[in-house]
Amino acid sequence: MILVTGGAGYIGSHAVLELLLAGEEVLVLDNLCHSSRIAIDRVEQLAGRPLQFVKGDVRNRSLLAALFASYPIRAVMHFAGLKAVGESVREPLRYYETNVSGSIALCQAMAEAGVFRLVFSSSATVYGESPMMPITEDRPTGVPTNPYGQSKLMAESVLKGLAESDPRWSIGLLRYFNPIGAHESGLIGEDPNGVPNNLLPYMLQVAVGRRRQLNVYGADYPTPDGTGIRDYIHVVDLVKGHLKALERLEAVRGVSVWNLGTGKGHSVREMITAFEEVTGRPLPHVIKPRRAGDIAQCWSDPGKAWQELGWRAERDLISMLADAWRWQSNNPRGYAEPTPEKKTPTALAS
Ligand code: NAD
Ligand code: WQD
Repeated sequence: MILVTGGAGYIGSHAVLELLLAGEEVLVLDNLCHSSRIAIDRVEQLAGRPLQFVKGDVRNRSLLAALFASYPIRAVMHFAGLKAVGESVREPLRYYETNVSGSIALCQAMAEAGVFRLVFSSSATVYGESPMMPITEDRPTGVPTNPYGQSKLMAESVLKGLAESDPRWSIGLLRYFNPIGAHESGLIGEDPNGVPNNLLPYMLQVAVGRRRQLNVYGADYPTPDGTGIRDYIHVVDLVKGHLKALERLEAVRGVSVWNLGTGKGHSVREMITAFEEVTGRPLPHVIKPRRAGDIAQCWSDPGKAWQELGWRAERDLISMLADAWRWQSNNPRGYAEPTPEKKTPTALAS
């Protein structure tokens, strides 16, 4: 059985679906602070088979001990965490406690239960402001400009120290670039809390009429069209990389680091043009000053994952945007219950 923490979330739910389709038994632990039980129901529907779901907090040591004692867990995919950069600046301790202490509590429970295979959700943000592209895994990590990025780098350091202390550990640090898109069914997808930080969720909410216009943060970067360039990767490609990493961790020990990206960069303007092609309508947008903490460009060299995992991204930008659009247009309010029709009380009906 595979324990998936944060398995009701955007990436976790897609990973759970792939695990179920691959025939794995899955236990999801999620406190639902940033997701909905509906995602779990829909994953079971898509997989055509059930999973085990426990609503709970990855920081809850007694709950973790009980789960390892009750289920035949042989490996863990650890997605549970907080990921909003702006929020991390306002609430740094909550981010360190969830992303770092939560990972420590999980590893302590794993070690006590004799489970030593762990796939960890890291982020390209640990590279900080890197001058040269593409980025390979041997690029020194930088100084993340926000507590969220710092928490990811701190968690990576904890996991490296842990693996150095005990040769039984086999840990995969997966450094995601910019995951976007959704499962082709349009039933599961990204459902950010509040105002979306990230580019595509914001564009999608403009397109369904929830936001007035997209703010393009900066058109004066040293890039071909002046807007920021990122390595967008389809979330289904991303999670397929997780299954390959899990398989690889059977054969290796210690800490392995893999970039999960496409190796291609796209600018904000390119994203807008492609998005308008997919939706068939213009996307209202306005140029604004740069966003604090943003870097000009960031894209991966995913060659190591290809050599060592036999994995590479297969879906192109149009597929990413078309799948994301299908999810958002089918679910304009994400997983929120559609607002019930306002029923006029009968007394007033006449
Ligand atoms: P998400 O917010 O959709 O999913 C995170 C899940 O973890 C949610 O279901 C939430 O309810 C759960 N969770 C949060 N705190 C918890 C806790 N204390 N105990 C139990 N469950 C908890 O985010 P996501 O985009 O799916 O990201 C998953 C992981 O990947 C995160 O660790 C994130 O930092 C990392 N990551 C995401 C991106 C991205 O752009 N989405 C990029 C790089 C890394
Ligand atoms: C992409 C581009 C913006 C929003 C973040 C986190 C990173 C990881 C992925 C968790 C940039 C521009 C954005 C908008 C815009 N998350 N943009 N208008 O900043 O590369 O990475 O998400 O691990 O840690 O830092 O992604 O989608 O926010 O921005 O113009 O409303 O879109 O300037 O060039 P980013 P993003």
